Amino acid sequence: MNIETKCVQAGWQPKKGEPRELPIYQSTTFKYDTSEEMGKLFDLEAEGYFYTRLQNPTNDSVAAKICAMEGGVAAMLTSSGQAANFFAVFNICEAGDHLIASSSIYGGTYNLFGTTLKKMGIECTFVDQDLPEEELAKLFKPNTKAVFGETITNPTVSVFDIEKFARLAHSHGVPLIVDNTFATPVNCRPFEFGADIVTHSTTKYMDGHATAVGGCIVDSGNFDWLAHADKYPGLTTPDDSYHGIVYAERFGKAAYITKATSQLMRDLGAIQSPQHAYYLNIGLESLHLRMKKHCENALAVAKYLKNNENVAWVSYPDLEDDKYHELAKKYLPNGSCGVLAFGIKGGREESIKFMDSLKFITIVTHVADARSCILHPASHTHRQMTDEQLIEAGVAPDLIRLSVGIENADDIIADLAQAFEKI
Ligand SMILES: Cc1ncc(COP(=O)(O)O)c(C=O)c1O
Repeated sequence: MNIETKCVQAGWQPKKGEPRELPIYQSTTFKYDTSEEMGKLFDLEAEGYFYTRLQNPTNDSVAAKICAMEGGVAAMLTSSGQAANFFAVFNICEAGDHLIASSSIYGGTYNLFGTTLKKMGIECTFVDQDLPEEELAKLFKPNTKAVFGETITNPTVSVFDIEKFARLAHSHGVPLIVDNTFATPVNCRPFEFGADIVTHSTTKYMDGHATAVGGCIVDSGNFDWLAHADKYPGLTTPDDSYHGIVYAERFGKAAYITKATSQLMRDLGAIQSPQHAYYLNIGLESLHLRMKKHCENALAVAKYLKNNENVAWVSYPDLEDDKYHELAKKYLPNGSCGVLAFGIKGGREESIKFMDSLKFITIVTHVADARSCILHPASHTHRQMTDEQLIEAGVAPDLIRLSVGIENADDIIADLAQAFEKI
């Protein structure tokens, strides 16, 4: 199936007489006839649902759809994108381990890695993702366990060179984790370029309507944990909390997601509600149509901004003269996403006056949904970061992030134009 068909048809496969539309299994618990049957589930000897914190059929159907769209072997939903990125890393890193991440990633993930993981004993080195391979290779340590980047970074819309980082990660015996939130599998499938694990904030384009916070982790099944057994004892040695199961031996290609589900979700409980998974599934059905329209509109808006005398600079990888255009042509040949970044001449004050003058393009702490919206990261999402950290992350104090929706492009441009007249 092509990606458009997967958006609509993958996941829920009703049997005879079952609902055509994905049902919401609004139940925390599931019934069995004997205690022996239930016991086998707890021993991971039999497959089945017993408690929604671990697994729920609605969630699993939606995870299976995203898994098919990404071309992976196993996937799980989480309560948020933050939980997805936390689990993706914590599933293979523990106190004393080290992680390499692009410094241009979303501010929330930057905080998670730089502050919260640090408190848990996991150290993260943030790197300039555009450095040459030889420079980046010097940053690996014997305790490095993973490499992390975003296909298209939030909010600087830089394109991550997936193949470069996959080569680096693999030559050091570690997996590459890619947050594919902005591109979505409609525009880029990172496994095709060597990524091992993909994460999503499904809150963004996948849901698409700003209705449900959620996340997803997908495993390609390609990373050989047993070949690097010394680095990943959590997957390759007995788990005492599960009767000594060795995930990589028992579950093969499904080991990573099985461990994340049966161990991390069991203990940390960041599950997506089945109701949210249902909304997400509706969003996924039209994702391919919306991504096309987001990209068309964003390119029209980027070209308008580029020619506007009030605008100091524009970043949008689909513009031919953009710094990331070559990488975009390789990884995102059908378009990148609807998000772009620009700066207004005059800096912070003019930027705020401009944003406050917009009519239907609203200031919201969100990005990547059907409605056009705008944000000034230095004042909003990234306000915890110092100016130094902002500059390191490539977020200029005047950067405005515009998430171009699926309205009529002329109307979006007209709203921007009337706001420019106010400054
Ligand atoms: C690229 C990216 N990853 C992860 C997240 C975190 O996702 P959530 O807000 O669903 O927790 C975000 C949120 O904006 C994001 O943009």
